[in-house]
Amino acid sequence: MRIDQNAIREILARTDIGSFIGNYVALQKRGKDLVGLCPFHGEKTPSLHVHPDKGFFKCFGCGVGGDVFKFVQLLEGVSFPEAARMLAKRAGVEVEEETPAAARARSDRELIYAANEAAAAFFHETLKLGPEGEIARKYCAGRGLSETTVDSFRLGYAPARWDALVGRLNSTGIDLRIAEKAGLVKTGQRGHYDFYRGRLMIPTYATTGEVVAFGGRALDDSEPKYLNTTTTPVYTKGRALFALERARRAAAEKDAFVVVEGYLDCIALHQAGFHHAVASLGTSFTAEQASELRKYAERVFVCFDADSAGTAATAKSIDVLTAAGCAAFIVQLPPDEDPDTFIRTYGAAEFQARLDAALPWIQFKLDREIEAIVAKRLPAAHAARTAESLVRALPREEWDRWRVYAAGRLGLAADDLRKSRFVDNAANFGPRQGGPNFVRHVVPAAEPPRVERDILCTLLDEPALVAEYAARIPPATFRDERYAGIYRRLLDAADHLTTATDALAAFGDDRESAETAVALQNLQRSAEVRFPDTAARRAHLDALVERLEETELYRRKQELSERIDRLLEAGRPLPPEDWDEYQSLVQRLDRSAGKRLGTK
Ligand code: UTP
Ligand code: MN
Repeated sequence: MRIDQNAIREILARTDIGSFIGNYVALQKRGKDLVGLCPFHGEKTPSLHVHPDKGFFKCFGCGVGGDVFKFVQLLEGVSFPEAARMLAKRAGVEVEEETPAAARARSDRELIYAANEAAAAFFHETLKLGPEGEIARKYCAGRGLSETTVDSFRLGYAPARWDALVGRLNSTGIDLRIAEKAGLVKTGQRGHYDFYRGRLMIPTYATTGEVVAFGGRALDDSEPKYLNTTTTPVYTKGRALFALERARRAAAEKDAFVVVEGYLDCIALHQAGFHHAVASLGTSFTAEQASELRKYAERVFVCFDADSAGTAATAKSIDVLTAAGCAAFIVQLPPDEDPDTFIRTYGAAEFQARLDAALPWIQFKLDREIEAIVAKRLPAAHAARTAESLVRALPREEWDRWRVYAAGRLGLAADDLRKSRFVDNAANFGPRQGGPNFVRHVVPAAEPPRVERDILCTLLDEPALVAEYAARIPPATFRDERYAGIYRRLLDAADHLTTATDALAAFGDDRESAETAVALQNLQRSAEVRFPDTAARRAHLDALVERLEETELYRRKQELSERIDRLLEAGRPLPPEDWDEYQSLVQRLDRSAGKRLGTK
């Protein structure tokens, strides 16, 4: 009696292996793993590792390992179906005995695997040793594929005949009707004939190791370039990912996949040491493929062709990936290069550099939108609205950063974007649509408030300026205690200060202030930019004071805009005075930003 495969999947989905094994063994968290004393051999130091993410356990002491079924089998000394029934009961899964039809389908699948396996062996053997394989050996060498790569992927060659594989399958006793179901042979008027002829054969494996499909590449310019297995009982296009079986481990370690379009792109990446590469096989990503990737890693580096079809596929993939909870990054290669040619031309280090420079998906999307907006010469308000709606699909803490980015590219102020949705119609309001729930990127650490320090440095350099700026620099500017102390002393003595020495005298017996002031003066002297005369110092101070004022305005504007957001979301009316103040703050900030950028 067999347990239905769907029930098994369901049990696995509902059973957390960590807490299950935790019922028997005390487990402690170590990184992503749980670790405890192995129940299958006597030991004093824990060597049983449980990987809840991956759903398996492994003892590095006695070597046992497997999934949760295996754990129960070993622990209770029962067969697989018994273990499954026990776990099913616990997980509340109804176990149905396999129907005869399901049993037939399963045995069909197993026979198809066997046929595929025999075919893969035959193709590989032919490529490696057969006289007919010479042309494919040359082809591989010409594309820079090493022996190791050819062996590891089990690349093969389908001879340019109609009966090569058919002959082999016949002699190994494989039913040709099964081979036909596997997509390996076709039926013609005179019986079965080979589907793949004169092609480099690339097997695709299930993560469990079975060969599920083949891609056959023409060795010349004949069409189609690739001939692929279509749908069979063991393979649905758009479900599998090429090389996933070998990439998932490296991907889990790096918490990242690289996704490319082509078989040979993927193979070239593996050969160059990028073991976390998989191929989506020509199409853009499906939701199934994305959630498959998400099981192993969160970050997905998409590296599709730079042509317009590739860019469209990238855009679509981003949506699918983010919906699956992946953080997508877009790897950009020069036009007319694919990962395979790029690596061969520029080398692995250069490819790594491209990975390092990959764009967070939101930036890629914003760029694309912005290019479209600019190309269509849309009015600024429309552009701002489009960009704003993209930004607002992100988690809230990301808004500011990407608003600033988009505004910068559109030649607008960040607040033009924020305002844009107020002038839009009601359609833009209401809860956000199920957008992605995170975006990963490096957020630069907040700059320490250097403005305060720079102001003091400049004043100490030319204390005569203290009186001149006293009205514009309130003592509250200095949040640092010591800075505030120095500034107060300087203010007190403002009328008598002319030289730097006068400033030091102003501290009297306040040793701490004196020392800090000397340190600041030294800092100023070693600063990259010197301010040689009074005019330069004034200009510097003016800029600093303006920044101070701006920061204050900005802080106030943030406060208001958060309040406005909350009111809008609650559907409550906006107090007009809040709105007026907000508008005027926006305008003032806009003006000063414009001045800084030289646009106003
Ligand atoms: P490309 O045309 O970009 O080919 O198709 P490629 O990967 O660079 O292949 P080489 O380097 O010329 O050998 C990308 C992918 O699209 C699928 C294949 O999976 C291919 O790897 N494809 C392409 C097909 O399935 N059929 C085709 O006729 C062409
Ligand atoms: Mn290529």
